[in-house]
Amino acid sequence: EGEIHIPDTKYSFDGPFGTYDRGELQRGFQIYKDVCAACHSMNLLSYRNLRDIGLSADEVTAVAAGVQIQDGPNDNGEMFERPGRASDRFRHPFANTAAARAANNGALPPDLSVITKARVGGADYIHALLVGYEEPPEGVTVMEGMHYNKYFPGHQIAMAPPLSQEGQVTYADGTKATVDQMARDVAAFLTWAAEPELETRRAMGVRVLIFLAILGGLAYAVKRKTWADVH
Ligand code: HEM
Repeated sequence: EGEIHIPDTKYSFDGPFGTYDRGELQRGFQIYKDVCAACHSMNLLSYRNLRDIGLSADEVTAVAAGVQIQDGPNDNGEMFERPGRASDRFRHPFANTAAARAANNGALPPDLSVITKARVGGADYIHALLVGYEEPPEGVTVMEGMHYNKYFPGHQIAMAPPLSQEGQVTYADGTKATVDQMARDVAAFLTWAAEPELETRRAMGVRVLIFLAILGGLAYAVKRKTWADVH
């Protein structure tokens, strides 16, 4: 039993100049919405943020309208539910922490807004975790209500395998929904959620380098001219 080795998943956003693949992010959102959202909140995201991954205003409105959001109190002091709006934060699957634990055998599904930042390995880890369920090795007893996962620290996780069969979702773009594909896509989506500014940040970095190269060249030329007569 050595260190856990997390396999390296190749992504378009890897490396210093990588960018997101909009199709992949949209598929990933579909997985979050159809599977993960039953248990995991994403408090830092609003439906309107989905414009950033290529959904049209109408699509965003439709996604938001598809969930019921707790609102209130109204004039009578009552809480009520209403269809979501583009400006709403992603819907909370549970009323509170106690309800979330009660529905999950005592364990708390963490908020996924910045999970790729909160776990070593980022997207690679999320992908690995989702495909890492297997039978426990000889001699290992899995506790009641827990599941063996080769990539989860400690190997016993309260989350049942959320992506367990091919074709569990039907992708809008026709991509074949293998478990590996679904895991990849949702890990990419969660990376974007945690780091929506990644592309702008990198583009700025490139401009800064170009600027510095030109400025450096100029400074050198000026230096040569200024000191040309000093021997
Ligand atoms: C934990 C992702 C679906 C229940 C987690 C963790 C991640 C995650 C990243 C944290 C693991 C860690 O601490 O390192 C996902 C994704 C899902 C999904 C991407 C959809 C594909 C679900 C569903 C449920 C659920 C549908 C409930 C039926 C839990 C619980 C934990 C957990 C209870 C806490 C596990 C523990 O600490 O032992 N999930 N999840 N998840 N998830 Fe999910």
